[in-house]
Amino acid sequence: MHTSLLAAVLTVIALPGVAQDLDRGERLYFQHCAVCHGEEARGGGPMTEVLATPPSDLTQIAARRDGGFPVIEIARLIDGRDPILTHGGEMPIFGFVFGAFDTVLREPGVGTLLTSAEVVDLVGWLETVQVE
Ligand code: HEC
Repeated sequence: MHTSLLAAVLTVIALPGVAQDLDRGERLYFQHCAVCHGEEARGGGPMTEVLATPPSDLTQIAARRDGGFPVIEIARLIDGRDPILTHGGEMPIFGFVFGAFDTVLREPGVGTLLTSAEVVDLVGWLETVQVE
C-alpha cells in the first residue's frame, strides 16, 4: 500500500499535469464507457436506446465549455463524487469500479484532486479526443 502510494505520488511529480497512461485510459474507455458513449466517444453506443437520457458526446466536453477541458470537474463526474449525473441521468458511479483514491490529479490554476489512477488515465485519454 505504502509502496504503491509512493509510486503514484512519484508518477505525478515526474509528469505534472494530466498526462498519465493514455493507452490504459483508452482501454478503460472501451471496457467501461463505449457501451453508452460509443466507439468514437460521440454518444450513441449500443445501450442508448434503453436509456432515458442520451449519453453525452464526449468529444465535445471542451466545446461545451468554451474550449476549456476541466480535468478536475470531469474526474469528479467519472469517479462519482459530483452528484449531478447520478441525479438526473443514468451514468453509473465508477469510483467503486476503479482502484483506490491514491493518485493526485493536478489542474494548473484550479487545484488538485485525489482520485484513482484509472480515472486520471481516462480523463487524460478523453482530453486527447476533443474536437472543436
Ligand atoms: C450506462 C450508460 C453510461 C456509461 C456506461 C457511461 N456513461 Fe457517461 N454518461 C451517460 C449519460 C446518460 C450521460 C449524460 C448524463 C446527463 O446529461 O445527465 C453521461 C455523461 C457523461 C459525462 C459528462 C459530459 C459533460 O460534458 O458534462 C462524462 C464526462 C462521461 N459521461 C464520461 C463517462 C466515462 C469516462 C465513462 C466510462 C468510465 C462513462 N461515462 C460511462 C451514460 C453512461
